Amino acid sequence: AQPWLHHHSRVRGCRRRYGRVCATAEPAQKAKQLLVYAPNHPLLRHWLAVARSKMSPPPIFRAACAELGRLLVYEAAYDWLPVLESQVETPCGVADATVVDGSRPVKVIPILRAGLIMLEQAATMLPASQTFHVGYERNEETLQASSYLNKLPAKFAEDDRILIADPMLATGGTMLQLLADLVGRGASPTYIKIVCIVCAPPALQVLNRDFPGVRVYTAMIDSELNEKGYIVPGLGDAGDRAFGTE
Ligand code: URA
Repeated sequence: AQPWLHHHSRVRGCRRRYGRVCATAEPAQKAKQLLVYAPNHPLLRHWLAVARSKMSPPPIFRAACAELGRLLVYEAAYDWLPVLESQVETPCGVADATVVDGSRPVKVIPILRAGLIMLEQAATMLPASQTFHVGYERNEETLQASSYLNKLPAKFAEDDRILIADPMLATGGTMLQLLADLVGRGASPTYIKIVCIVCAPPALQVLNRDFPGVRVYTAMIDSELNEKGYIVPGLGDAGDRAFGTE
C-alpha cells in the first residue's frame, strides 16, 4: 500500500493546488501518517525539467535546484512558520499586521553536499533562521549511509520548526538516521518538514513506517530506484551534477 499516492481532499484547499496529492488519512490517524505534498505548479515543473536534463551544465543545474528549493520552502512555510499578530503604522493609518516571530528561528538542516544547493536562495526567504550542517557518506556497495559531519545543537525544543533539505529522497536511509538523531535531541516529528526535489516510494515507505507526522514537500514522486539506489528517471547524482564532479 502507498497511502501517499492517492488523491486527497481533506487538507483544506489542496484539491486545486496539489494535483498529485498524496497523503493522508482519516482525522484519527492524521498525525500518524506521512504527508507528502507534490504541488502541481508550472514553475516547479519547469525547473524540474531543467534540473532533470542531462544537457544542463553545473551552473544551470544549480540555478534550477535553487529555484526548486525556493518554491518548495515557500510551500512548506505556509501553515508552519510561527507568527505574531501586531499592527503597523502606514503613512495613511494603522494596519493589522502578521509578522514572522523572530524569536523562534527555523532550524534549517541541509544534508551535504547536495542539500546546500537547494538552500542558496531559500534561506533568504525565512526572516529568522539558523543553519546546522550535517554530512553523510554513502557506501556504494551496501548503500548504507554513515555520518561524517554533525553540527546539530545538543537539544531542540519540542516545538522547534525544523526544515531538512536533501534533493533526492531515494532509499530514505540517510533521512531515517538524521530523523532518529533529531528526535533523540528532543525534536518533534510533527514540526519537521523535508524539502526534496525528487523522491521515490522506498523512502516514503520507510518514513511513513518510522516517522509519521513528518511532512515532505517535493517537485515529483518518481516510480523506482535502479540497482545503484538512484532514482529513475530522477536527475542523476545531484551532488556531482551541482559541483561538476561527475
Ligand atoms: N542521490 C542522488 O544524488 N541521486 C539519486 O538518484 C539518489 C540519491
